[in-house]
Amino acid sequence: MQSTLSPATALAPETTRPVDEHVVKTYARSQEVFVDGCGAHVRTAEGRVYLDFLGGIAVSALGHAHPRLVEALRDQVGKLIHTSNLHRHPYTEEVATRLARLTGLEAMFFANSGAEANECALKLSRKWQRLQGRPERTNFLALEGGFHGRTMGALSVTHSKKYREAFEPLVPCCAWVAPNDVGALEQALESIRPAAFIMEPIQGEAGVRDLSHDYLRAARELCTRTGTLLVHDEVQAGCGRTGSFLAGAQAGVVPDIATLAKPIAGGLPMGVCAVAKPFADTLQPGDHGTTFGGGPLALRAALVFLEELEERGLMRAVEERGAQLKRGLEALQARHPEIVELRGRGLIQGVRLARGAEELQRALYKNGLLANRTGGDTIRLLPPFVVGEGDVSQALDIFARSLAEALAS
Ligand SMILES: Cc1ncc(COP(=O)(O)O)c(C=O)c1O
Repeated sequence: MQSTLSPATALAPETTRPVDEHVVKTYARSQEVFVDGCGAHVRTAEGRVYLDFLGGIAVSALGHAHPRLVEALRDQVGKLIHTSNLHRHPYTEEVATRLARLTGLEAMFFANSGAEANECALKLSRKWQRLQGRPERTNFLALEGGFHGRTMGALSVTHSKKYREAFEPLVPCCAWVAPNDVGALEQALESIRPAAFIMEPIQGEAGVRDLSHDYLRAARELCTRTGTLLVHDEVQAGCGRTGSFLAGAQAGVVPDIATLAKPIAGGLPMGVCAVAKPFADTLQPGDHGTTFGGGPLALRAALVFLEELEERGLMRAVEERGAQLKRGLEALQARHPEIVELRGRGLIQGVRLARGAEELQRALYKNGLLANRTGGDTIRLLPPFVVGEGDVSQALDIFARSLAEALAS
């Protein structure tokens, strides 16, 4: 897509003031105040244009101001924004059917965020065990480094103490095992007998850490053998970002539940808990719910995203641009031994550095490339799926220049 921004609109100074006097201080925000964007570019109130390889933290798959999305949303806003889940609207079944085809899973619960999708997965797992006559199987097993969200349940299976400690006690009986260690997983499943094992096929917040395909297949086999529900949290890596709709599908694995969110509605809040057939009837009326989830506006946006992905070649574009990005980063790594590891695939990639990650992040911002740092030492790149060949080349140039600056400082 052509990334051309219209002339900047003048804004009142108070709109551009970078202070948050009346906002809860949950984020250490940057100084930039973004006001508009187009394709893979965003612009600040002062008219500074950035190449957006953060994508609102893996959200803006269609980039900014995508013409089909804008048109569909304008149309939908004028027709129907909200009805509640007590009623149907034309997009409920259409989006659910598409997702069933894309995931290989049977039934969708529509939520508003990744954390909420994971809450549904955890609740469903416990109820399913109860229905099997195993009410004692209430524990959850997760992976070290895993991140699943900030609500009490999702936070309880998130590994990092820094997110959990101040809010304890959380949901009890959560345990973690080391990623890629089949023996440790087998032992934990046998001894803990959890309701579910929740894991990300690529751990985004842990520094874009890939799990091996052998591990994904072994986990599938072990969960089946021990009667444990296998939940793949695909909130960050899913929805086509790796070049297949689900990242886990590249290992040939179908989980019992997959959770989705971030890019699925082109930037509108939406999460999905996708459930395999044997478990699809576990939740019944009254068991779970949401006022806003699956509303007409978010699902209309999701439909545009899924059409772009399936019928307009967006998935193929992810593969091509992902390969271009990887080639460029490999060339950079060959010149810079400070790059100790390249991680991820498609349009979720991480560059792990022996030193200078913080300085590099600052230099990237200064030079006009938005990206962030995860796991302390890894720069994470999450460009929109509509990113162009020229955008990727430009990002690689900025990355090379910024790396040289960061290492020299
Ligand atoms: C893998 C994963 N799961 C869950 C979440 C939580 O999603 P949300 O912030 O939409 O609640 C995130 C957010 O970064 C995530 O990366």
